[in-house]
Amino acid sequence: MADDVDALLAEQVDYYQARAGEYDEAYAGTDSPLQHLGSVLALLPICGRVLEIACGTGQWTQHLAGRFADITALDTSADALAIAKQRAPEGVRWVQEDVFRFRSEAPFDLVFAGFWLSHVPWSEWPRFWSRLAALLAPGGVVVCVDETADGLAGKEAWSAEVEDVVTRSVADGRTFQVAKLRLDPVAVTARLGQLGWAVEPVTLSADLFALRAQPEN
Ligand SMILES: C[S@@+](CC[C@H](N)C(=O)[O-])C[C@H]1O[C@@H](n2cnc3c(N)ncnc32)[C@H](O)[C@@H]1O
Repeated sequence: MADDVDALLAEQVDYYQARAGEYDEAYAGTDSPLQHLGSVLALLPICGRVLEIACGTGQWTQHLAGRFADITALDTSADALAIAKQRAPEGVRWVQEDVFRFRSEAPFDLVFAGFWLSHVPWSEWPRFWSRLAALLAPGGVVVCVDETADGLAGKEAWSAEVEDVVTRSVADGRTFQVAKLRLDPVAVTARLGQLGWAVEPVTLSADLFALRAQPEN
């Protein structure tokens, strides 16, 4: 089973590298997730060291950089990072690395993730969230923005064989299997409570939610 998950996560990395040049389409138009920027920024600390995981093309990074002086932004996709570097101001520390392998000597006051949590298979949540806890400074917080299950309705090609896996395609016709969870903020709050996190879920719209999480001890 571990091999299956590792293979899925590797294919997900390949998918986002293949899609990097198309990714910003999700932010064009009136339903850009950035219309909720103010609500999301309100969940963040005033200052401190920031780690943005799975930063993609820097759509959130550019705004985090307007508020925080010390940002490390991490993604596996070289092409997404190249776009992000153009978008965000100078001074952001860019890291091309797998979030499941990333380690840091210095802890962070904020770990931020836009549209990443739903790509972490349930089986990986204990490992993933304990890794986040290890990256946080005392009093640090994790803030995630993601789609609700309602927001996904009718949008994805779900696998008939494997739960929480979808098939996605890129413009050149290649297809990829990607993990995609149908997240319910209340259920996420309960699940993270079992993993030792205190969570404040925030409804952004019918399609989007945010959560602010802190380790309980
Ligand atoms: C849905 S996009 C989100 C991008 C950005 N956070 C946003 O909200 O626009 C997911 C991102 O995760 C990155 N990614 C996929 N697997 C990863 C991994 N194992 N470690 C780090 N980043 C990964 C992809 O390259 C992609 O940029």
